[in-house]
Amino acid sequence: MIAIMSYIKSAALEETGYVVLDRYNQELDPKEWLDIEYVDWKSSGDTRFAPLASAQGLIECNGFWNSVPPRTDKDGVWIPSQVEKAPNLVRRAQEPGANVGRCRVIELQPTPYGECLYNLHQDDNNRLNPDGTGWVVRGFFNLTDDKDSFFVLRENRTDPQGETRIALPAGAQLIIDTQRLWHAATHIGTDPRYCLITSWESGPELDAYIEKYNGRNHVESVPVDQDILDAGYAEQARRDAARAAYYAAKGQAAVAQAMSEA
Ligand SMILES: [Fe+2]
Repeated sequence: MIAIMSYIKSAALEETGYVVLDRYNQELDPKEWLDIEYVDWKSSGDTRFAPLASAQGLIECNGFWNSVPPRTDKDGVWIPSQVEKAPNLVRRAQEPGANVGRCRVIELQPTPYGECLYNLHQDDNNRLNPDGTGWVVRGFFNLTDDKDSFFVLRENRTDPQGETRIALPAGAQLIIDTQRLWHAATHIGTDPRYCLITSWESGPELDAYIEKYNGRNHVESVPVDQDILDAGYAEQARRDAARAAYYAAKGQAAVAQAMSEA
């Protein structure tokens, strides 16, 4: 007999891989993200992170699979010194009642559209996640009022067909299967953007939360002039080619080195 297992996933995310929830009234809350402690952590783009929950409850951002013993991105340990400074952010991350893995605030410096396209990536959310349990997805709560910024989602990194651009005003709330969708933020402005990112386990709790806040799996894309889009596509291609050339040159140098040692 063959047992066929699969992950528990949200039906709401099945078609498009994302939902946009009702907007949160961010203005009512204090700016807790300015009080917590940040560490340099290279993600896509020019970023720093302030972890609220981590593998061991320390102020670090490493994947839980690099912890000892290695484990999947669930059962994050809340960091007391950060929780104390950001009770509202913690309350919001815990509101669904779904298992929380990593939970952190990202600080992103201004990022034009072409650079954002170069930054498009998929997250490694489900490494070591046991089959038959809930698929890990991520919540993105925009904290700063980034009126001209938007999240870019694609099924294929280099194909703009079907690209979705989701607006990022203060209080914007998205849940995204970021292991499935290529994603990155275009951030227009002069100040950094702050966003609370939480890894949640899919299941009935998360489904109920999505329903409660009217999760919509289709939204109108933020309109962007065609010339800016075209310039962005060209910039992504240029940066991709430069990266490929860099690694090709490095590879050839390694081959030359190996041959000289042979
Ligand atoms: Fe990501």
